[in-house]
Amino acid sequence: MFGFNVCLHLFPSLVYFNGVQLHVETIATTITATQGSNVTLPCRYFYQPYLIAKRKTRVKWSRLPSNGGPDTDVLVAIGHHHRSYGEFKGRVHLRKDSEGDVSLIITDLRLLDTGKYRCEVIDGLEDESSTVELELRGVVFPYQPKEGRYKFSFEMSVQACEEQDATIATFDQLYSAWEEGLDWCNAGWLADGSVQYPITMPREPCGGINMAPGVRSYGIRHKQEEFYDVFCFSSFIRGNIYYLHHPQKLNFTEAKMACEQEGAHIAKVGQLYAAWKFHSLDRCDAGWLGDGSLRYPIVFPRANCGPLEPGVRTFGFPDKNQKHGVYCYKMT
Ligand SMILES: *[C@@H]1O[C@H](CO)[C@@H](O)[C@H](O)[C@H]1NC(C)=O
Ligand SMILES: *[C@@H]1O[C@H](CO)[C@@H](O)[C@H](O)[C@H]1NC(C)=O
Repeated sequence: MFGFNVCLHLFPSLVYFNGVQLHVETIATTITATQGSNVTLPCRYFYQPYLIAKRKTRVKWSRLPSNGGPDTDVLVAIGHHHRSYGEFKGRVHLRKDSEGDVSLIITDLRLLDTGKYRCEVIDGLEDESSTVELELRGVVFPYQPKEGRYKFSFEMSVQACEEQDATIATFDQLYSAWEEGLDWCNAGWLADGSVQYPITMPREPCGGINMAPGVRSYGIRHKQEEFYDVFCFSSFIRGNIYYLHHPQKLNFTEAKMACEQEGAHIAKVGQLYAAWKFHSLDRCDAGWLGDGSLRYPIVFPRANCGPLEPGVRTFGFPDKNQKHGVYCYKMT
């Protein structure tokens, strides 16, 4: 740990600084970025009236999880020293472009970095802070396993999304997806332990025709004893996701091997959604994915390629002996 003995150092200046106020400002309220990119969360501090003498300050960035858990430390800086914590180790630093600039730069953004960030400046006399929200641009998709509908406890949901190169969606992410038209009549776990589902076209089996469109909630449910589907969230993924050109259709085992022979892997569901959303992958051929499901992505709806809306078409988990195409993922 550093020795933060700022108080001792500043004590003699107390009288001199009487009437001077510390201000901390974050410029934008919400910053939106994609997975894998570098992002700057703006923050600066200044004194009123203006101070010519430099004051020793301590800057602390912390993250407030969207699910109401405890704050986690991201970075603490004093003078030229800084220290980063946990998942942020080695991925964060202060920008320091100009006097009072303590903007936080996060590199190689991850799915779990979303949330509210607090920029706090402590100068021994005062402690001021301001917050900024970081959102990831991404895509929400409902997920259920081969065993069918309503088979996941909360923990299983978290794991299922991770296995698809995604995270369990937050309420805000599901809400944005609903605003963009997501309509799904099966209830799924969200990161805060609630179970909800998005309806844009009210109908009898999905809460009734008399209920307005919206995200319908079953509230917070028992994490071990209740079972639902899950909503996963996937963001931009670097690399190439493609339908494999292959002379024959393949069973599941052959499909996996065919991707590997190309130095690639059979694609995960989250990767296919990311490719559909961020690379406009459009292909009217059903292909195997790593979980044994069969899907294809449509950006430009057309005859014989599913419904009138763009989307990833899903055909469940066919018998692994069936012959189909395959989607592969290759890192670049
Ligand atoms: C992010 O920043 C790091 C280090 O500053 C740099 O090496 C990397 O290329 C940047 N990544 C992107 C996607 O700009
Ligand atoms: C797929 O086909 C191969 C022959 O190419 C066969 O050995 C294997 O048992 C089949 N696997 C499945 C899961 O059907």
